[in-house]
Amino acid sequence: MCGIVGYSGEKNASELLPSCLRKLDYRGYDSFGFAVQANPTIAVEKHAGRLDGFTSQLPESKLGIAHTRWATHGSVTEKNAHPHMSCDGSIAVVHNGIIENYSELREQLKQQGHKFVSETDSEVIPHLIEGLLAQGKSFEEAVRETCDSLQGTFALLILNKESNKLVAARKGSPLVIGVGKNENFVASDVTAFIEFTKDVIFLDDNELAIVDGNVEVQNFSTGKKLDKKVSKIEWDAEQAEKSGYKHFMLKEIFEQPEAAQKCLQGRIKDGKVVLPELEGRDEKLKEINRVIIVACGTSWHAGLVAEYIMEELVGLPVEVEYASEFRYRNPIVDDKCLVIVVSQSGETADTLAALREAKKKGALVISICNVMGSTIARESHSTIYNRAGPEIGVASTKAFTTQLIVLTLVSLYLADLIKSNPLEKQREILSALQEIPDKMQQTVDESNQVLAIAKKYWEKPNALYLGRGPNFPIALEGALKLKEISYLHAEGMSAAEMKHGPIALIDSDMPAIFVAVKDKTYNKILANIEEIKARGGTVIAVASPADKEMEGNVAEVMHIAKTIELLQPLLTVLPLQLLAYYIADIRECDIDKPRNLAKSVTVE
Ligand code: M6R
Repeated sequence: MCGIVGYSGEKNASELLPSCLRKLDYRGYDSFGFAVQANPTIAVEKHAGRLDGFTSQLPESKLGIAHTRWATHGSVTEKNAHPHMSCDGSIAVVHNGIIENYSELREQLKQQGHKFVSETDSEVIPHLIEGLLAQGKSFEEAVRETCDSLQGTFALLILNKESNKLVAARKGSPLVIGVGKNENFVASDVTAFIEFTKDVIFLDDNELAIVDGNVEVQNFSTGKKLDKKVSKIEWDAEQAEKSGYKHFMLKEIFEQPEAAQKCLQGRIKDGKVVLPELEGRDEKLKEINRVIIVACGTSWHAGLVAEYIMEELVGLPVEVEYASEFRYRNPIVDDKCLVIVVSQSGETADTLAALREAKKKGALVISICNVMGSTIARESHSTIYNRAGPEIGVASTKAFTTQLIVLTLVSLYLADLIKSNPLEKQREILSALQEIPDKMQQTVDESNQVLAIAKKYWEKPNALYLGRGPNFPIALEGALKLKEISYLHAEGMSAAEMKHGPIALIDSDMPAIFVAVKDKTYNKILANIEEIKARGGTVIAVASPADKEMEGNVAEVMHIAKTIELLQPLLTVLPLQLLAYYIADIRECDIDKPRNLAKSVTVE
């Protein structure tokens, strides 16, 4: 996730901005840049790489903007780093978000004679403002009109060499103003400036702020001036980095509605899935007769859920393989086989080796990654990014749910391509998918019910996680989450398998956590629950909304919001992530950096 900071005040922005930007390090980035007002020009400095050891060469200035980039459009290069400039160098812009209509805008601007130097979506913004200024509009008017013409999400900071103000605007990406004494800040979050001021104004969507010695906020569509409240931040600097959450994992669990929104953004148009990443691959995709998904850990669980979704929607056989096993077998793979490689980091050694094996055997390889420019992304024929933003907690949460969304989008894309499913069914799933961010929000809003359960059961040394159908892999994922961050023993399995052996483990110290939502196996699950209870076991259920029957049958219930059967795993996993988190927190475990684990497993 990109980070942005702007400064207007008595200090030297060229010295101050790098240190503010370093405070946003935790957001993850691959390149950075600055622009400062250096009358009569704007001075700019940009670099690919990290801020470590960086000292600014910029002239002294009282006004400037800065940016760390987490690449989404275009590779990690100095040219793609922000700020982006207008042709005449008079406008500098830093941007966080995604401009969906950038290719149309870029074409129009090129026809008007504008020259582009980067591959980014963001670069259209300074050129649009430049065009409007040339028509005689004021700086503010030009920014307002530009904001109105942009589709997608943005947090923007803009400098104009003719003006001693900076303009900030927000739609869908966070932006907060720090109101100091004789100085003001604007940043993606308060961490950037909390050591200077705790008085803040949170910008809302469609708002624009003009920042110099004062702060004026207006609605950028209507131009109406707004009377915004100044709030006091109660966090300290360390908490602020985590936006007030105790751990990155908790922050990332609660970020899932936003991550899902970003993952879906621009990928559904007119009732169809749009994946430009697969451009030029349709003919090859029409010929495939089999899909193999390879991955490790949580990403493998995402693949297992996708097996149900893809087989139902596409009607082709889908196999899901541990990358580590796939690479050391002699897998039957040919050029009619589509291999989907799933990896958050894009650097997992076993997954990379499996990718190379699949390519060697002639398969078309599509990867689903969260880290742009990672090795797996670079070596695949095509890559579709999760757009979850950097995941810092070792336990994967928002990467998992966005992997599932991408896998669902790919399934729908293939279904449409090979006409394996009636259009109405695809549309029904697409419209439910678009509602998923809201449904996720409703589900995580119920976190208190999960916390209460964690407080009751945190001392139990073992747990069984059980589910059926697409929720069977969610049981595996729930168990993995508990194991890796709380160091408790947990096993996940199909609820139907329990009677084939594991039921022997049931006693009062082994709670059984069932994913027991209303679906075609609901009655079977109810029967499994009775089997556990008959043997003195305690049952905790993840249940559909207002499922009174379940409430009457089990010791504890964690409700999810309502969605269609196929998409339920996107919600059922949320209480299980929270349960693992709260138990680990009560047990005082090192949640973001669990013992013996690494975020990216680059060894075999
Ligand atoms: O980066 P990847 O998705 O390739 O990583 C795969 C696994 O190492 C990873 O999912 C691991 O299981 C997580 N710690 C689970 O939370």
